[in-house]
Amino acid sequence: MTIEFAPLCDALGAEVRGLDLKRLDDADRARLAKALPENGVLLARGLDLTPEDHVTLTRVFGDPDIHPIEAIRLEGHPEVIVLAAGRFDQIREGDPGAEDLVGQISWHSDLTYTAFPSRGALLYARTIPPEGGQTGFIDLANVYDALPDGLKQRIEGLEVVHSLGPLQQAIHQAASTDYARDPATVPDFEPVVHPLVHRHPETGRRVLDISPAFAQSIVGLEEDESAELLRELREFATQRRFSYFHPWQVGDLIIWDNWRTMHVATGHKRRHRRVMHRTTLRGGVALSA
Ligand code: OGA
Ligand code: MN
Repeated sequence: MTIEFAPLCDALGAEVRGLDLKRLDDADRARLAKALPENGVLLARGLDLTPEDHVTLTRVFGDPDIHPIEAIRLEGHPEVIVLAAGRFDQIREGDPGAEDLVGQISWHSDLTYTAFPSRGALLYARTIPPEGGQTGFIDLANVYDALPDGLKQRIEGLEVVHSLGPLQQAIHQAASTDYARDPATVPDFEPVVHPLVHRHPETGRRVLDISPAFAQSIVGLEEDESAELLRELREFATQRRFSYFHPWQVGDLIIWDNWRTMHVATGHKRRHRRVMHRTTLRGGVALSA
C-alpha cells in the first residue's frame, strides 16, 4: 500500500499522497475508488501523466467515456478532452484584449444537459497561467444537508430543465483554439429534465442538483418564480463556506464526483496560456429522487 489521504480543506475533499501509477496495488485501487464518492473531490500533486497514463488512472475509478463534443477531444486519444482558452500565440502584452479574462465557466456539474450526467472527471494541469485560472468546487450533498427546513420542503419533488444554452457559445470559443478541432462539430443538445434533489446512486445521500450554468427553469413554475428560486438556491449553495478554490500547479490532478459536486472556472488573462487535459467517467444512469 503506497497511498495516504489527508483532508483537502474544511469544506470538502481529500488530498491523496503517494499516488504513483507504477506502484499502485489492488488495495490502493480499491481505496481510491471508494474515496471518490466518500470525499467528493480528490487532489493529487506532482504527477507526470501521458494521455495513456491519464486513461489508465481513469479506469481505477470507472469506465472512461467519450465526451459528446467531438471538437474538444484530443487527437488520437478520444477519451481525453483538451480545455484551452486564449490565443497565447497571437496575443502579447500590450495588445488590445490581452488583459481580458478568458476561459471562465460559471458553476456547473458536467453534462447535466444530457440524460445521463457523467459519474465524474479527472482534470490534469499541463500548462498553468502565472495568475488566475483557478477551479472552484462545492459539495452539493453538504449544501443540501445545510438547507433550511422550509427551503427543503419547498423544493421537494421539483424538477429542472437543463440545456447547454448560452454556454454552447463558450464551448465554440474553447473549441476554436489551435488545440482542438472544428468548432462546427459542437452538436445541438435537446433540453432534458432532472430532479432538483437526487439521491446519490452510490452513497444514497441527497444532493442539490442545481448546475446553474445549465439549469434553465423549474418545471411547472411561472418564469419569475422559477428564476427567483433558482437564484435563491444558487446564492445559498455558492457561499464561501461550502467552496474550495484550487490554485493549480503543473502536474496537479483533481478528480471529482460529478453526481455530488459542482465546479467553476475563474478564467485567466488572454495573453497567458492554460492547457488542461480531462477524462470523463461514464454515468450511464438517470439521477432520480
Ligand atoms: C471541466 C471544467 C474547469 C477548469 O473540466 O469540466 O469545467 O477550471 N473545467 O478547467
Ligand atoms: Mn466542467
